[in-house]
Amino acid sequence: APESTAAHVIRPEALFAPSRENSAGLPLWDENALRKLSDDIGSLQPSTGSGNHGVLNPADHRDVVGHIDFATDDQINDAIGKSVTAFGAWGNLSPDQRSENLFRAGDLLEQKHPLLIDLLVREAGKSVPNAVGELREAVDFLRYYAAQIRDGFDNTTHPPLGPVVCISPWNFPLAIFLGQVSAALAAGNTVLAKPAEQTPLVASAAIDILHEAGVPADALQLVIGDGHAGARLVADPRVQTVVFTGSTAVARAIRDQLSGRLTSHGTPVPLIAETGGQNGMMVDSSALAEQVVGDIVASAFDSAGQRCSALRVLCVQEECADRIVTMLRGAMQELRTASPDMLKTDVGPVIDAEAKAGIEAHIARMRSQGFNVFQSELDESCAQGTFVPPTLIEIDAIRTLKNEVFGPVLHVMRYARADRQRVIEELNATGYALTFGIHTRIEGEATDTAKQSHAGNIYINRNIVGAVVGSQPFGGHGLSGTGPKAGGPLYLRRFLAACPPDANW
Ligand code: NAD
Ligand code: ALA
Repeated sequence: APESTAAHVIRPEALFAPSRENSAGLPLWDENALRKLSDDIGSLQPSTGSGNHGVLNPADHRDVVGHIDFATDDQINDAIGKSVTAFGAWGNLSPDQRSENLFRAGDLLEQKHPLLIDLLVREAGKSVPNAVGELREAVDFLRYYAAQIRDGFDNTTHPPLGPVVCISPWNFPLAIFLGQVSAALAAGNTVLAKPAEQTPLVASAAIDILHEAGVPADALQLVIGDGHAGARLVADPRVQTVVFTGSTAVARAIRDQLSGRLTSHGTPVPLIAETGGQNGMMVDSSALAEQVVGDIVASAFDSAGQRCSALRVLCVQEECADRIVTMLRGAMQELRTASPDMLKTDVGPVIDAEAKAGIEAHIARMRSQGFNVFQSELDESCAQGTFVPPTLIEIDAIRTLKNEVFGPVLHVMRYARADRQRVIEELNATGYALTFGIHTRIEGEATDTAKQSHAGNIYINRNIVGAVVGSQPFGGHGLSGTGPKAGGPLYLRRFLAACPPDANW
């Protein structure tokens, strides 16, 4: 089946897939190594920079991590002009030459890990283990696409497209940012990279590293700004492809903006959009409660729930629901929601005051509608930042949830065994189809349920976050994105002229 209609079904053994050969080689779960890293980070000087716009540490708003200016419309216009000119030389390099630059950049990312991890912690509010994981994923993306272009393509049969606009979100400001950029560059396109306005500093450090690795300055340009800058870039007729990761609403706006526009090859301007989810997990009464609870906590509250893949609605068979909910509340009380620069932190801040207000408004609304809300405690280190405690809300129907709530909020719904089919249909009916989890010890039930879900990534008897580049291609369908899956074999092809865009978007 074409990849865009296939789900990736992942079982626990896939966690031990050989993908880690590619990654930054940092010993992720070695407590001593993490402690050393944490000390190194603490000793770094605050980043400097000039500009009118202060970038705040979400865990402590007194910490101004750096200063930036947003690009003006004239600067954006000039940048696109340079990108068009630079395409001649960059697009004509052999795939081997381009891939050498990207491999070199991967090595440099590893070498400069204290700086990058410092920025991920202070600018994006990542816990240290999350920051290490993100750096490893960024390196994986660079090496994966570099190897693919080197081994599988040539410029004659697969010519590049031209200037590509890459627009990324704040929640993976290094890995998703570099995933988009490295695929576009590997294919021979020039890139205008617009990071999220909340996380320009780590993006800027990453661009410096790619330049140091040999990518010419005009072939890869950083455009700092908010949605206005993104919209300006998308609107320019010289742009040949748009890659977007972020909310479904903005993806729709970009799709509308591109409607009817043609590339210089006379084909519709391609849009790759990876968007949000209303991700579910079904737990039946045969599942192993202890394992289920650990997997739920990781799925819902890792990264403070700020993963597109995060679990939003847990559906538990009524026979085991009391036990699971009681254990879950206990596990939530054990989570430490605190400043992310401490190793003991499990849950860090949400990105900014606007995000916090939106999440809190949802919780208040659910409370006022009579739904049972349970929250864990905040650590005293949370006073100066934007923190939301892990929250559990018991609901009676999936349709109660209208939009993705992008934070540490888990909804729990009980279902009768006879209603299993209806629950899957209701999850599908949300229109989102990103991740989905199944916990059962009945083999036929796992296979059957997986077949009926529309989700792009389906996880059986494990957590539903943390897809690994190369072995677990990641992406959704419907309101969750256009495909092709990032970190999968078909992604790079969409950046090449010989491959037509997906007719569905
Ligand atoms: P967002 O849509 O608000 O912003 C994403 C990017 O788009 C930012 O760089 C922003 O400046 C830019 N932007 C905003 N308006 C624009 C416009 N009109 N034209 C062009 N660019 C514009 O999303 P966010 O809050 O940064 O990120 C969170 C969202 O991203 C969540 O919905 C999450 O599910 C989604 N996400 C999806 C994936 C995935 O792989 N499917 C991964 C990470 C995040
Ligand atoms: N790729 C990220 C995950 O799988 C978003 O959690």
